[in-house]
Amino acid sequence: MLSPVYLLAVLTPLIAAQSVPAQLYSGLIPQKVLATAKSLPASIQYPQYTDTSVGHWIDFVPDTWTSAFFPTTLYALNTRQTLCGATPSNGLAAANWLTLGRSLSNGLIPLEAHNNQGHDVGFLSFPFVQELLINPTNKTALTAVNAFAADLAARFNPTVGCTRSWDTADPTDFTVIIDNMMNLEILWVAYGLTKNETLRDIAITHSDTTMKNHIRPDGSTWHVVEYNSTTGVVIRKRTSQGFSDNSTWSRGQAWGLYGFANMYSHTQDTNYLTTARRLATYFLANLPSDGIVPWDFNAPLVPAPRPADSSAATIAATGLLLLGSVETDATQSKVWINAAINLLNKITTLAWRPAWQSLLSNGTVNWPANNFLTGIVYGDYYYIKAGTDLINMGLAKCS
Ligand SMILES: *[C@@H]1O[C@H](CO)[C@@H](O)[C@H](O)[C@H]1NC(C)=O
Ligand SMILES: *[C@@H]1O[C@H](CO)[C@@H](O)[C@H](O)[C@H]1NC(C)=O
Ligand SMILES: *[C@@H]1O[C@H](CO)[C@@H](O)[C@H](O)[C@H]1NC(C)=O
Ligand SMILES: *[C@@H]1O[C@H](CO)[C@@H](O)[C@H](O)[C@H]1NC(C)=O
Ligand SMILES: *[C@@H]1O[C@H](CO)[C@@H](O)[C@H](O)[C@H]1NC(C)=O
Repeated sequence: MLSPVYLLAVLTPLIAAQSVPAQLYSGLIPQKVLATAKSLPASIQYPQYTDTSVGHWIDFVPDTWTSAFFPTTLYALNTRQTLCGATPSNGLAAANWLTLGRSLSNGLIPLEAHNNQGHDVGFLSFPFVQELLINPTNKTALTAVNAFAADLAARFNPTVGCTRSWDTADPTDFTVIIDNMMNLEILWVAYGLTKNETLRDIAITHSDTTMKNHIRPDGSTWHVVEYNSTTGVVIRKRTSQGFSDNSTWSRGQAWGLYGFANMYSHTQDTNYLTTARRLATYFLANLPSDGIVPWDFNAPLVPAPRPADSSAATIAATGLLLLGSVETDATQSKVWINAAINLLNKITTLAWRPAWQSLLSNGTVNWPANNFLTGIVYGDYYYIKAGTDLINMGLAKCS
């Protein structure tokens, strides 16, 4: 474990207040998002990542884990407009974001009955969760949220103490990835609606098991832990998208820090707060001196440049803003929030691309599959969300 004194030495420079990047509130954001919405094929597909040269979106069929991020981005612009109004400079007057978000969510509805996305039903539920914040009695959204939650709950194995992330050829090989922490939110939303305690208990048990098996003593994380579904024992710990089995894949670390901060916000269980702090500390203490999030913290520096992952940066930034708002220690809270702003500044400087369809470049979708230097739909979504969260926290103005 890193000592508190060491941590303060590493993290204190991050306490210095910084200004928030203006691009977070640029009129280019609504302009690009609207152009993307208009570009989608009539038989609905959703953008996931761009090519690497001109930054044009590549669209995928709805039964894809990332499909809901674009509809959720439309809801996010509606949220932004509710907060800020529509002005000539913010560009939000260009569309009715709620109407667009509702209409593009429809392509996800068939997934309630059948999909191949395993634990990622949590991500698929996002636009319906947003809809319920606007209209709590929308039956389509209520049905979707409860269906996706039941789908995730059906993947829970009490012997293992987790929901199964990915399906495997051998069903006794029970695979859980750190990313799964993000999907637990759907259980909380459905628990809030139905008071079905089984859903809440599954989220808690999954988190407790993950806390025990997915996190190393230094606060870093394994990407994949495989359990035996009949005995519950850990078979192996490995990577899928990282550099090596013992390395730390930065996006997984970001999902984990966000997921545990979220668990703390729901439960006030300090074990989750401690865990979120440990993951955040590892993330920040292992950034290179340029402050750019590498796709894997242990990927070699040579040959340079080691590709960044802008999505890991924006997910971590949004997770750090959540951690900063639930943190019980006031000084630590400042550290998390300023670190979030720092990540956003660095990634904006590196990756903001006015000429691309995506907001940001320099995403690493999957380095082992040779898919990097792209825009990524969830990287952009968390960039917009971070901007809105900063306004809600009183740390930035609308324009
Ligand atoms: C209810 O939500 C669904 C999906 O989010 C949306 O398509 C539909 O337009 C909404 N209905 C109303 C009446 O707002
Ligand atoms: C609560 O949720 C679990 C998991 O989806 C389900 O099996 C159970 O039937 C639900 N209980 C009630 C009373 O609906
Ligand atoms: C899990 O354990 C059972 C019983 O010992 C065994 O038959 C099975 O092969 C194991 N599965 C894996 C993936 O190790
Ligand atoms: C990974 O770390 C474990 C200890 O956590 C060790 O037993 C194993 O040898 C390491 N593997 C590699 C490839 O370094
Ligand atoms: C960022 O992307 C540009 C091309 O879009 C590339 O030239 C540069 O090497 C990337 N930097 C990092 C750190 O990934």
